[in-house]
Amino acid sequence: MAPGAHTVAVIGTGKIGELMLSGLLRAGWPAGRLLATTRRQTRAEELATRYGIRVVDNLSAVAEADVLAISVKPQDAGALLDEIGPKVPADKLVISLCAGLPTSFFGRRLPEGTPVVRVMTNTPALVDQAMTAISAGPYATGAHLSLAEEMFTPLGSTIRVPESQQDAVTALSGSGPAYFYLLVEAMIDAGILLGLPRQVAHDLIVQTAIGSAVMLRDSGEHPVKLREAVTSPAGTTISAIRELEKHGVRAALLAALEAARDRAREIAAQSD
Ligand SMILES: NC(=O)c1ccc[n+]([C@@H]2O[C@H](COP(=O)([O-])OP(=O)(O)OC[C@H]3O[C@@H](n4cnc5c(N)ncnc54)[C@H](OP(=O)(O)O)[C@@H]3O)[C@@H](O)[C@H]2O)c1
Repeated sequence: MAPGAHTVAVIGTGKIGELMLSGLLRAGWPAGRLLATTRRQTRAEELATRYGIRVVDNLSAVAEADVLAISVKPQDAGALLDEIGPKVPADKLVISLCAGLPTSFFGRRLPEGTPVVRVMTNTPALVDQAMTAISAGPYATGAHLSLAEEMFTPLGSTIRVPESQQDAVTALSGSGPAYFYLLVEAMIDAGILLGLPRQVAHDLIVQTAIGSAVMLRDSGEHPVKLREAVTSPAGTTISAIRELEKHGVRAALLAALEAARDRAREIAAQSD
């Protein structure tokens, strides 16, 4: 299928919706085949000027587009579907980017048989390094999943997962960039503590993060092996690792991701 053969409407174009629009444009999707909707006029004007796309109201988007990418906050999805749900023809593909919301949430508010694909992407989409997990809802076929992949592959990597794993995906990669930023922020502070100028500490840690990430991705080695290669007997690294273990960093990460997963479940329960 030629890229951009379908008209895609991003419904509720905030941070994630805009990442998706800009990614599709960078990948060569024709601007004429992209629509956006917003709640505020100023935001509509900003998007139209920035990307040269048409910003329309929700019902016009439903009528015109083949693919509806829903990217409102989960708590706004009910009101949005009250407005558009009954008007969505069952041959449209609905792609949900909403964290926590199961495809059954959409199924109950859309005409019987409407295919829904659930997607969890993340903010590195801005630099074409997103991790996007894609799951089929009850009426979504292999062709629908392939179309979703066609839309998200230009933004980074994609993976297909069963929908039952999406709350865990949300906890790991959806929220994941925030954990790395927190870690980097803390390591820069540590550099300040050790007497380095802030900019030097920043540059050292950011490049170390990039180098480590590329090695993790490209070497095919397990993270334990890569860490062991930096951890010599009676050396500096093992002294630091002893402190990390003593302060429960590993256990903190296990608990933190479990909390994120539980919150995703809670959001789904509240939205029902
Ligand atoms: N941010 C992330 O890192 C991330 C990662 C993975 C998934 N997600 C998911 O992506 C979705 C969007 O998140 P976000 O961070 O992009 O939120 P956001 O910036 O608040 O974007 C949502 C946009 O939808 C608009 N909106 C709400 N109701 C609308 C309606 N009825 N019609 C038209 N527009 C409407 C909002 O308008 P206003 O500006 O007036 O509020 C806002 O601009 C969420 O479901 C979230 O779970 C986010």
